[in-house]
Amino acid sequence: MEQSHQLVISTFKANFDQDHPIVVCSPGRVNLIGEHTDYNMGFVLPAAINKGIYIAISKREDDVISLIAADLNKKHQTTLKDYKYSDDNWPNFILGVVDQLLKAGKHIRGFNAVISGDVPLGAGMSSSAALECAVAFALNHIFDLGLDKLSLVQKAQKAENEFVGLQCGIMDQFASVFGKQKHVIKLDCRSLEYEYVPFDLKGIKIVLFDSMVKHSLASSEYNVRRSQCEEGVSIIQQSYPEVKTLRDATIEMVETCLKDASADIYNRCKYVVEENDRLLNACEDLKRGDIEAFGQKMYDTHEGLSKLYEVSCPELDFIAANAKKESAILGARMMGGGFGGCVIALVKEPEVDQVVKRMKDLYFQKMNKGMNVYITQIEDGTRIL
Ligand code: GLA
Repeated sequence: MEQSHQLVISTFKANFDQDHPIVVCSPGRVNLIGEHTDYNMGFVLPAAINKGIYIAISKREDDVISLIAADLNKKHQTTLKDYKYSDDNWPNFILGVVDQLLKAGKHIRGFNAVISGDVPLGAGMSSSAALECAVAFALNHIFDLGLDKLSLVQKAQKAENEFVGLQCGIMDQFASVFGKQKHVIKLDCRSLEYEYVPFDLKGIKIVLFDSMVKHSLASSEYNVRRSQCEEGVSIIQQSYPEVKTLRDATIEMVETCLKDASADIYNRCKYVVEENDRLLNACEDLKRGDIEAFGQKMYDTHEGLSKLYEVSCPELDFIAANAKKESAILGARMMGGGFGGCVIALVKEPEVDQVVKRMKDLYFQKMNKGMNVYITQIEDGTRIL
């Protein structure tokens, strides 16, 4: 992380005639359990991690927005009047936030900014949410906009929904901003009430096995999943008008109302309703300190994501299946939107090195490609450095 911090400052000084940019860091996230539940208004259990996006930023007197992506060695320049969607992709996560602030009638001017980070892109650790949150936090600070943390989260999420075009839920942005060292966040995505649950498991590490499959398909298929859930809700509503989202549905409702719907709609809704229950039970496991039971639920989540929700891929299934055979791995599952990215696993600390080696070797033999592995720590959310 230190490297990205230094890089944004040195790149800023080398490119802009301003000496003292402020630097904001916004972390990536893991999610222990509760996948594809956020936009169904259910619960999630994420945490911010020790990998983040850094932005060095300073305001300008005119309306020019001058951006540098230090890791990509790319520049982008536009103005507050002329900004538009960029085929380069990376500027959109910044311009999307600008767009939200302007739509909300906030007074901002131009700015110079440099970004860098060590959250792997497209690996399911929410590099895009981290960037959006870093920008929202930084602009709020330099232009003294007076927005609270939740408003910044909501602006960052809407930037993704309206400018980038991914109909994501609120989990990633919420975790990035509200993260707390050694805690996971039990977030109710309907009421936005949240609780910090201690997650400082002695002798257990959170390990991410990166399949190296980039989830470029995610945007289109992700939005399809979201509309399939909405379609299921509209059928359930014919019998139960009080059901507004899948959060309000029970497994009995799914069984009775969706038995004649298409298999896709039935499977998607069944998964979401089961996953929401699973998360609530998993939180009870955590309270009792029963990490074995918690881990088993992670495997069950993987099964549901793979067979019912169909957002996994052969590489992720292979990693999760191998993890299950390792006695030192207490639980594992694909994490995030899917179609690639990482498997998150809880691994007994003394055996981490051997387990990682075996998992890497097996992956290479089967897939003929390498796998990155990240051993993560739970850290605080977005902050000024
Ligand atoms: C992506 C989205 C989140 C969430 C997850 C799946 O990370 O950005 O809002 O829906 O997928 O749980």
